[in-house]
Amino acid sequence: MTALQHVKPGAYYAVNLPRPDDFAFWRDRARQLIQCDVPPDRVAWVEPGGAGDLFAGGDTRLPAPPADARPVRASKRFLGVAKNAVLHSDPERFALLYRLLWRLQGNPRIMEDKTDADVRRVEEWDKNVRRDSHKMHAFVRFRQVEDEDGGEHYVAWFEPDHHIVRANAGFFRRRFANMRWSILTPKGTLHWDGETMREGPPARREDAPGDDPVEDLWRKYYASIFNPARLKVGAMLSEMPKKYWKNLPEASLIPELIAGAQTREAQMVDAGKSGFGMEFEDKPETLEAIDKAIHACRQCPIGNLDNHAVMGEGPSDAALMIVGEQPGDQEDMAGRPFVGPAGQLLDVHLEKAGIRRSAAYVTNAVKHFKYVPKVTGRGKRRIHQSPSAKEIDTCRWWQEAERAIVQPKLVLAMGASAARGILGKTVSINKARGAPIALEDGSELWITAHPSYLLRLDGEAREEQARLFDADLAAVKARLGELQTAKGP
Ligand code: URA
Repeated sequence: MTALQHVKPGAYYAVNLPRPDDFAFWRDRARQLIQCDVPPDRVAWVEPGGAGDLFAGGDTRLPAPPADARPVRASKRFLGVAKNAVLHSDPERFALLYRLLWRLQGNPRIMEDKTDADVRRVEEWDKNVRRDSHKMHAFVRFRQVEDEDGGEHYVAWFEPDHHIVRANAGFFRRRFANMRWSILTPKGTLHWDGETMREGPPARREDAPGDDPVEDLWRKYYASIFNPARLKVGAMLSEMPKKYWKNLPEASLIPELIAGAQTREAQMVDAGKSGFGMEFEDKPETLEAIDKAIHACRQCPIGNLDNHAVMGEGPSDAALMIVGEQPGDQEDMAGRPFVGPAGQLLDVHLEKAGIRRSAAYVTNAVKHFKYVPKVTGRGKRRIHQSPSAKEIDTCRWWQEAERAIVQPKLVLAMGASAARGILGKTVSINKARGAPIALEDGSELWITAHPSYLLRLDGEAREEQARLFDADLAAVKARLGELQTAKGP
């Protein structure tokens, strides 16, 4: 666009926007026009395709601001709201934002005036756009297809209300960094190949695949996290408006789940599944009681997945308690802790250190397996997800109850989740290892890495970590010997 040197008195200008969601382009042109003193009623903002084309004949060569033009004022609040409002589908948004920016030059506090019609309108747009993005994050569902080269590719269809697709590319890139995927929408498409993001033109529903086997898993997953005791139909419909149902595999279950909610709730109450059902003072006093109670625990979303609680195992008076993160796929199926690959590696290192696993009480900070369903070349799988700090803190109650019964002299926490489960705060393994912590119950806490961390490494890095792990276990063995021979008070 060529810039003229002078503003033509009474001239109309037309700004052709290259995209419907280009905030930076709008901001640069708006600044330029304000510095040239061009009033809002002299500018037409033209979207691709012609929307907003009121003065089609306006001059597209914008004037250049004078050298001594004053800087344009824009409050943080205005810029924050404007960035989202630009993504709204209302064709008047660019013009109204320009008018507001123009008015801000004379009244820098205008955004604080909640009765101002312009302010209210852009704030409404901001809210609508944020809500639309939230829906996109929550309701994009990928279907698996095969690439031309036979590789896995995931494709999702989504219908946003506003021009939010490009603005949300970063969210999906971060969340699904290791997958190759495309998100198709009528407002544009995104394609991620594991390294680069490509944008494409709008798509049609027919361009996206229909059902696939992963949908069964989503349906099962959704049915398992559905808690009839928490059912609030109004809230559910506002969170998951019917408009999105047609693209959600699990949505076909909703009417059935709602209809069966009362019966299921009654069944859950009968089975003692409506929560802890116990106060702190009621902490179970035997390991058998904890075992029974964790199977009924639904205090966090992990307990609502399709899984089984896994109780600790070992002598109820063990001097050593070993704590891991949470059961994995194999532990969930076997109902025993540390029987899968991490457990097998742990056994090798314990033996090397001269620690008898059968003499230790082995348990986890979190009692249920947290996963997401995935279909891979090897069939349907449940992919491990780390528990959140909140989930670990919620499950802490059970691990403390186990500790109160076993009364170990030494607790070995493997990994950050286990350490958090015991301490209630996050610590760095590298800083904490080798520095035992005295716990309130008189036992000593030693912290080391989790064996599955070793499994994820190879080469020299793995050897180095294995050496550190062995050294930690050797120190635990030596200290345990001292504690066991020490006389009680
Ligand atoms: N990882 C854990 O933290 N615990 C298990 O029981 C198995 C793997």
